[in-house]
Amino acid sequence: METLEDIRREILNCKKCPLHLTKTNYVPGTGTGGSGIVFVGEAPGREEDLKGEPFVGSAGKLLTELMASVGLTRDEVFICNVLKCRPPNNRDPLPEEVEVCGGYLVRQLNVIKPNLVVCLGRHSASFIFDFFGLQFSSITKLSGKVFEAEKWDKKVKILPLYHPAAVLYRPQLRGEYEAHFRLVGELCGKTKKQKTLLDF
Ligand code: URA
Repeated sequence: METLEDIRREILNCKKCPLHLTKTNYVPGTGTGGSGIVFVGEAPGREEDLKGEPFVGSAGKLLTELMASVGLTRDEVFICNVLKCRPPNNRDPLPEEVEVCGGYLVRQLNVIKPNLVVCLGRHSASFIFDFFGLQFSSITKLSGKVFEAEKWDKKVKILPLYHPAAVLYRPQLRGEYEAHFRLVGELCGKTKKQKTLLDF
């Protein structure tokens, strides 16, 4: 059985697409996923590329703050992206990049077998919906709605959310986004309903 560490080592030597030529660091993902919760973003940005860690720039600060507001630490979840290398100038991922790099995310998910996957932004949500055999429409329509899929002989919850960068860009989304994070807290038993993931 492979481990997250096996996959990380493989990513650190990846030459499957040209993004490895322009990146500074590979960004495989951080955290243990021990809580059964995975956050998936789109691709590393400038700060992430420099540090080799996901969500450490301004969008990452908002994400970390909102996670903390519902009692989640970065260590107990697994945070990663669909792409493990930064696309030049933060352009959108190309379909062929998603195709080859997405294989690593699939393997990471198959190791963690999460109970809850939080998708940050449309590229992430579209990939994750595909993976779980769900129909993706648009992030605006689906954001904040909980979906359920059968996988790994259990029920898995999928929660598509706006990308935190979109909320920084449009501060009017902040209130709704905070409410969506309270939902994250409820789904993982950290706030209000006090139901744990084991009860799912
Ligand atoms: N945006 C993302 O989608 N991922 C990161 O890691 C940082 C910014």
